[in-house]
Amino acid sequence: MSTRLDMSAHDEPRAGWRPQPTLAGADYTSPEVFDTERGRLFHDRWFAAVRADAIGESRAYAVVDVAGESVIVLRDEGGTVRAFFNVCRHRGSRLCAGAGRLQSAIRCPYHAWAYTLDGRLAATPNVPPGEDLPRDQLGLVPVAVELWQGFVWLNVSGAAPPLVEQFRRFGSDDPEQWARYGLGELVIGATREYDVAANWKIIVENYNECLHCPTVHPSLVPVVPLYRHGEVEEAPGTGAAGNRLADGLTSFSRTGRSSLPTLPGLSELDAETFYGVTLLPNLIVNYHSDNVSTFHLFPLAPDRTRVVCDYLFRPETVGSAGFDPSEVVDFRHQLALEDWSVCERAQQGAGSQAFARGGLLPYADRYVHAFHEQYRAMRDPAP
Ligand code: FES
Ligand SMILES: [Fe+2]
Repeated sequence: MSTRLDMSAHDEPRAGWRPQPTLAGADYTSPEVFDTERGRLFHDRWFAAVRADAIGESRAYAVVDVAGESVIVLRDEGGTVRAFFNVCRHRGSRLCAGAGRLQSAIRCPYHAWAYTLDGRLAATPNVPPGEDLPRDQLGLVPVAVELWQGFVWLNVSGAAPPLVEQFRRFGSDDPEQWARYGLGELVIGATREYDVAANWKIIVENYNECLHCPTVHPSLVPVVPLYRHGEVEEAPGTGAAGNRLADGLTSFSRTGRSSLPTLPGLSELDAETFYGVTLLPNLIVNYHSDNVSTFHLFPLAPDRTRVVCDYLFRPETVGSAGFDPSEVVDFRHQLALEDWSVCERAQQGAGSQAFARGGLLPYADRYVHAFHEQYRAMRDPAP
């Protein structure tokens, strides 16, 4: 039996808490709000696009949707990760779709103009050199790239301050505190993708509270006793953001254990703890003893979000004979489906006139409130 949990630690801060308003209904449904978010949150700041190892080989590429801007992320022949708007400079055609391996050039499917992998215009069939095309100004339009811990971040406006500043200004947790997990060296062992009929903020809110856990995740609460109480924090103010697993358990799986190896460099406490962090605007990272899983949120519309969930492991684990991550993938997949179902219900209610002014957040929702404060600071910056 778990003896760790002492809920009385929550009594004092709970007593000082005053219920806080949620965002308003229109914040989850309005095209105008979504348009503002596209500019201020997703285009003017760094957006977590894809794992660098998803384009690990030379000439590998992936097309990502950065809130309505299609971007090609690729690794050129020299190994450099580059990104370009997915737009031909001739008459605007989309160039690429999906993911895969490029030839030595990106060739437009419309009139076959071709671009080198560093973006220069290299060929314009049937447009002779005598014509006065300013070829050196007709390269693909680049998108700013930053790499952090194996993630490719993009800034389509080119106006964002450095990524570390974004973490500092709009995060409650310093993501470097989990450096011991070696996230930058981990590689994708499995991926699951979801189309969720809910606003992206409803998904972030759902991630940042566990009031829903006893109702929505009956198979999870035996693994993390804290969740039975609707809590996401062992003892407030201790600085230990982790969620301790029940005694003897070490994994988010059906049994609370897994046959996957523990990541090197973790303490005993880490091995029996789950840490979760939201890196605004669109990345969620789950640190477990045997894997790190991530949610990339791709906002498609006020009421639609694509969620890509990658499961990351040591390269030698993924490369080992018989590698099978299904113990952890299947369990989290089930949790994800349970979460999306209630997120979609929340989206349905958010459009009602009964929710025009929003709802209320009790103490257990305090991280939802913290998210709202960060969101407002990003969306409506002080002049
Ligand atoms: S639109 Fe691309 S070559 Fe014409
Ligand atoms: Fe959940």
